[in-house]
Amino acid sequence: MTPFGYRDRVLCAESVPLERIAADHGTPCYVYSRAALTAAYRSFDTAFASRLHLVCYAVKACSSIAILDLLARLGSGFDIVSGGELERVLAAGGDPGKTVFSGVGKSATEMRRALEVGIRCFNIESEGELERLAGVAAKMNRTAPVSLRVNPDVDANTHPYIATGLKRNKFGVPYSEAPALYRRAAALPQLKVEGIGCHIGSQLTAVAPFAAAVQKIVELADRLSGEGIALSHIDVGGGLGIRYRDEAPPSAAEYAGALLHALGQRRQTLVLEPGRAITGNAGLLLTRVEYVKRGEEKNFVVVDAAMNDLLRPALYDAWHDVLPVVQSGGTPEQYDVVGPVCETGDFLALDRSLAVQEGDLLAVMSAGAYGMSMSSNYNSRPRAAEVMVDGAALHLIRNRESVAALMAGEMLLPR
Ligand code: LLP
Repeated sequence: MTPFGYRDRVLCAESVPLERIAADHGTPCYVYSRAALTAAYRSFDTAFASRLHLVCYAVKACSSIAILDLLARLGSGFDIVSGGELERVLAAGGDPGKTVFSGVGKSATEMRRALEVGIRCFNIESEGELERLAGVAAKMNRTAPVSLRVNPDVDANTHPYIATGLKRNKFGVPYSEAPALYRRAAALPQLKVEGIGCHIGSQLTAVAPFAAAVQKIVELADRLSGEGIALSHIDVGGGLGIRYRDEAPPSAAEYAGALLHALGQRRQTLVLEPGRAITGNAGLLLTRVEYVKRGEEKNFVVVDAAMNDLLRPALYDAWHDVLPVVQSGGTPEQYDVVGPVCETGDFLALDRSLAVQEGDLLAVMSAGAYGMSMSSNYNSRPRAAEVMVDGAALHLIRNRESVAALMAGEMLLPR
């Protein structure tokens, strides 16, 4: 599925020229393809068709409510990490009964709300959290469904900031301590033990670490069931990588094959938490060239999108392809593509060969995951607009933020 391609030298999203999107909605603007989102979700879901499973899209990857709306309509559940994400799922018509709640720092308020709306499971990451949840549930006279996120101590071979499955990481319950915590959970009447899970990191490009982690998790599940603690689901987290440049990540089918092999004949429902694999290559960031600036050592293309719009290059040195929206046929030169923010780390791409002029449009590719959802107002820059293309139709899904909205919650000191 290639949602973004050239037609008569103009880059289009499905059938809509990006020039038209810029004219109608301005820049910077995130552009998503409905067909690509649908195809990515379906290929993931279909890969696991041979067994009971639930895809819980990781909302943090792209949390705009139109995206959640589309995924909910396709049957997706959701993996949330905050009360804010829960409200987004509800606003989008998502099913709380298909929603799992991850994260190391759930507050009592978040727990109460999640219990009130009836989420499917809390992914517990510590003893303190287990006790707190039992207390909250007791006060509400409810039983809370729980799963422990176990840290399998497996190296995900990814950027250290997004590796989560090693002993030194803050995530999950230590493997050796999990059985004791399960016994504690099983003894608390306010909790119902439902499952076990792990999540070892993000942007993984090989299946071996997933298989190794799942192997350790199922061994633990078998041991627990031997003790009479039966688990109805196994949550394998997210983490499947995508192609940004020349990576060759496993396909959804290869990924599923490895996981299903590790699970063998076990009958538990499989819960999956993909984020990037669903939205990453279904979105791009459309930006306009403000200036072409020639320096003594380097040349710069200063665009109207910045690190506040797409943080990944600044934070992880991430590589995103940058394409001209109109293929001009001019002679390319080497440029750093930078934003207007006052930081040297404010770049979208380094050392790229481009033929550009002031006023041209550029597309920063593979920006559908951890793009808009990680954007900020740094330098008091209003956040970008977002649109979704559906064939020849163009839908605005988020207005460009106004400067008034930027200051809406603030006040001056008393006079
Ligand atoms: N489940 C849990 C518990 C997670 O922490 C994450 C991501 C996911 C699922 C989804 O992982 P995915 O399938 O998207 O890899 N901002 C970084 C990525 C951070 C990932 C955080 N956790 C980036 O831009 O690369």
